Amino acid sequence: MFNIILFGPPGSGKGTQSEKLIAKYQLKHLSTGDILRSEIAAKTPLGLEAKSIMDKGQLVPDEVVIGMISSALDANPQAKGFLFDGFPRTEAQSEALDALLKLKHSAINVVLALEVTEEELVKRLLNRGLTSGRSDDTNEDVIRARIAEYNKKTTVVADYYKRFNKVVSVKGIGSVDEIFNSLCKEIDKRIA
Ligand code: AP5
Ligand code: MG
Repeated sequence: MFNIILFGPPGSGKGTQSEKLIAKYQLKHLSTGDILRSEIAAKTPLGLEAKSIMDKGQLVPDEVVIGMISSALDANPQAKGFLFDGFPRTEAQSEALDALLKLKHSAINVVLALEVTEEELVKRLLNRGLTSGRSDDTNEDVIRARIAEYNKKTTVVADYYKRFNKVVSVKGIGSVDEIFNSLCKEIDKRIA
């Protein structure tokens, strides 16, 4: 298996680049944000609980997202590899992911970290909020809260994987294709 974490703040382009990467490398896309939004759409108890937290721009509890990822890994035994998008977001999630992959005799191969300035993030998310229907995109205060939550709780994920020399920074500003090419270059160096 070849497993990638696509890392970066809200609005850095993780979802956009994931779509292109999974098509090229035949990976299974696991986005905890997308899974949570489908739980909300299906009005499950988990979705209802998560919605009020997401609408404030805060992180949902570790146990919830770790459980979702564990089920998704079990549900895809034939996968050639996984592309994790928006997960892990805390050190506890990083440790849990490593343990889950180890059970499958696998590991994270690379963490690709998209670098985008805060002003560009806010601009992109407000712009997406005009059409996305995502309630956490419509209000600048909530967008800033998501970025603050990232700075406070999620940047440690990069520190965690730096200890294992797995982090590569990629410039996340430019055209979607330029950024995609930079990501592919880093993957191609590492994929057998
Ligand atoms: P999640 O769904 O993961 O959202 P996020 O991290 O806030 O990031 P986004 O999806 O908003 O941005 P993105 O990086 O995917 O960028 P995109 O490609 O869409 O999480 C939502 C919430 O769920 C969290 O706040 C939390 O509550 C909860 N949650 C999820 N995972 C969790 C976890 N593991 N633990 C705890 N809680 C969790 O691009 C953004 C916009 O920019 C788009 O409009 C796009 O078209 C545009 N764009 C993309 N690339 C470019 C470019 N190169 N130039 C210009 N515009 C671009
Ligand atoms: Mg996304």
